[in-house]
Amino acid sequence: MFTKKTIRDINVKGKTVLLRADYNVPIANGKITDDYRIHQSLPTVRYLLDHGAKLIICSHLGRPDGKPNPEASLWPVAKRLNELLESEVSFVEDCVGEKAEKVAKKLQPGEVLLLENLRFHAEEEENDDNFAASLAKLADVFVQDGFGVVHRAHASTEAVTHHLPSVAGLLLEREVDTITKVMEAPERPLMAIIGGAKISDKIEILQKFIDIADFVAVGGAMANTFLAAEGIDMAKSLVDHDDIPLAKSILEKARAKAKESQFIFYLPHDGVAARAIDSKVHTRIVDWSAHVISSIENYPKRPPRESSHMKADEMLLDIGPFSAAFVAGGTQLARTVVWNGTMGVTETPALQGAVGPFAHGTETIVEAMLGEFGHKPFTVVGGGDTVGYIEQQKLVQAFNHVSTGGGASLELMSGRTLPGVAALEDKEHQ
Ligand code: 3PG
Repeated sequence: MFTKKTIRDINVKGKTVLLRADYNVPIANGKITDDYRIHQSLPTVRYLLDHGAKLIICSHLGRPDGKPNPEASLWPVAKRLNELLESEVSFVEDCVGEKAEKVAKKLQPGEVLLLENLRFHAEEEENDDNFAASLAKLADVFVQDGFGVVHRAHASTEAVTHHLPSVAGLLLEREVDTITKVMEAPERPLMAIIGGAKISDKIEILQKFIDIADFVAVGGAMANTFLAAEGIDMAKSLVDHDDIPLAKSILEKARAKAKESQFIFYLPHDGVAARAIDSKVHTRIVDWSAHVISSIENYPKRPPRESSHMKADEMLLDIGPFSAAFVAGGTQLARTVVWNGTMGVTETPALQGAVGPFAHGTETIVEAMLGEFGHKPFTVVGGGDTVGYIEQQKLVQAFNHVSTGGGASLELMSGRTLPGVAALEDKEHQ
């Protein structure tokens, strides 16, 4: 249960509310290329406006290093908000100071003001108390709804709460509630599908899922490092050699758990190999099933053959059809699936048709998670690139929960305290 006060617990009528959102959205040539985070913040924005608040929204965008930078301006976000809310959103070119204060004072209930990028001031990331006080001066109440940034202790996530009554928005509540429930009391069997490039980025959730899940499947470039740790020659594949000792220790932990339970830690049996990351390049399935790593005892071993070896100039760019079927099969036994990280280089475009040459593995497991093979588990998708992929496939609505947070969702899943959530007021005991 979410233990912090939310906007439902306070009266905002006639009050000026400072809403911290995470509008750190990708922008190319002044155009927002993915507005998922903006859409997800709308229920809170609408709730506050419908309840008579004067609304000031603040956010960061990118990492401008404490200096104004037109490329990191939130102006395109103001325009997008305008379209989505169908009402005028004012914008000021600084988040603190006289101008912001003047515009803030004139706001009427139901009106919205978006402030310029908080990170144009170095004090934001320094969690500076004076800067936080200047922000707080603009409003009567602080609402935290930027789930994607609550793993940072910054002035607009932590210090500001020392100056204003501070509660959670609806997005923050839903994110924390859903992810916490899945990690603490999931409907079992619980399966975790973890992909992406580097083991070291996801070490904590890998460890955590070995502790709590019934089935952990690893894919993406991260799997290459595990396979290399198992002694498989990965040729030119992306392998993080520094992480091999880490991979070995994770495998040891997984094996220890598998000895005592039905737990499965699955590394791909086969993969799609190619000489270049290119739509036109020839691809080949390599399978090393003789080296299968899982807790399944007596898994049939085949003698190595030509297709069991990567060629010296090949890279592994996706999981193979057998592995995709295995992972898909796992989802059909699971009641809850947490997915973080694609299984291959999904961003390589297709030459023909809809599926890129290295996206078939990911596509198969997505179909399985979404019930195409008969059973649809409860699905939680962790942020970042994974969300980019399913947005591009227009599948966001089909999952039960698609997190707006990258680092924040990983930290929450790992069981870490999020400073931007801890700083909010606790709900009174009922
Ligand atoms: C994100 O995109 O993960 C959040 O907006 C946080 O951004 P940051 O990693 O630059 O703090």
